[in-house]
Amino acid sequence: MKRQTLKTLLTGSALLLCALCVFFTGCGNIVAETTEEKAETSSHSDEDKLTIGLSQVGSESDWRMASTDSVKAAFSSAEGYNLIFDDAQQKQENQLKAIREFIDQGVDYIILDPIVETGWDSVLTEAREAGIPVIVYDRGIEVDDEDLYVCWIGSDFKLEGERACVWLEEFLASRGVNRNINIADLQGTLGASAQIGRSAALEEAVTLNKNWRIIARDSGDFTTAKGKEVMTEMLNKHGRDINVIYAENDNMAYGAIEALEKKGYTAGMDIENGEILVISFDATHNGLELTLDGKIAANTECNPLYGPRLTEIIDTLEKGGSVEKVTYIDEEQFSGISYIGTIQVRNRPYTVTYLTEDLINDRQY
Ligand code: AHR
Repeated sequence: MKRQTLKTLLTGSALLLCALCVFFTGCGNIVAETTEEKAETSSHSDEDKLTIGLSQVGSESDWRMASTDSVKAAFSSAEGYNLIFDDAQQKQENQLKAIREFIDQGVDYIILDPIVETGWDSVLTEAREAGIPVIVYDRGIEVDDEDLYVCWIGSDFKLEGERACVWLEEFLASRGVNRNINIADLQGTLGASAQIGRSAALEEAVTLNKNWRIIARDSGDFTTAKGKEVMTEMLNKHGRDINVIYAENDNMAYGAIEALEKKGYTAGMDIENGEILVISFDATHNGLELTLDGKIAANTECNPLYGPRLTEIIDTLEKGGSVEKVTYIDEEQFSGISYIGTIQVRNRPYTVTYLTEDLINDRQY
């Protein structure tokens, strides 16, 4: 072989060798990085992970979607959980079936957001017999034996309703409105704690305010479509006789406002001049936009961000600690008018936050 050819070959081989070294070193780095990344995203092996069976109500409202996002993020695999999530599509029989499946799967914890309050005794007894702790959140349950679940965390739905009604009293007084007030109550899913509490608060307020009357009442199942359908029927029957719509969540308020506008009515605060005042609950992003516009007069928050609250409970239990049996979460209230800044409910002051676009943009849901 000619010297020059050999040199060329050697040089070529050396270059090839270098290239291969660089390539494999690079690959090594890539492999190492991928493993490190993996370690970063999940420091928990599959055996370490707690298996959680979570039975969600459905996907009926903006609030519900925010709540689902919150629990899914908190119980992610990277956080050390194996989440078995079940959407019950607003049917209690689906929740009962899901819980029985969680029991068969031998999950470590069952987390339940119950559609309605009653009908849980048998299935929760089965969970207890299987030694699986049950945590209830958002809506509550009525059971004969309170030991069937470890704890409940959620909203004081009756207080939410009381705050909404006291705000309405203050608003009417501030405007000097003395006329009879005819109210259409757009109820949530009948038998759900959120419906029971909010409807009960309205009934009490009607007893206290002698010129208030509930002239129409029906369930819109917490959805926009049903809210619109029910409100259309109410308007067909009562038309302009309705002064106030008490929508027991934001989605039904959207449906009600659509129904009003379709018939040429105006959602607003000028009751004396024929506008229909809408009260709502949840304070979701879209609900607050409508509140800023004045189409919803006051919006009482129902906070859906349960993920971190639930992981905290499970952390405590895993460490052998004890948790409160009942925990009510703090919630806010909003309006697009500035002059009712505080209201008195149950002998204590509650702030009513005057809305701004910045405030809405800063919210998580
Ligand atoms: O249980 C919480 C209620 O259920 C919220 O007010 C509503 O939007 C949801 O569907």
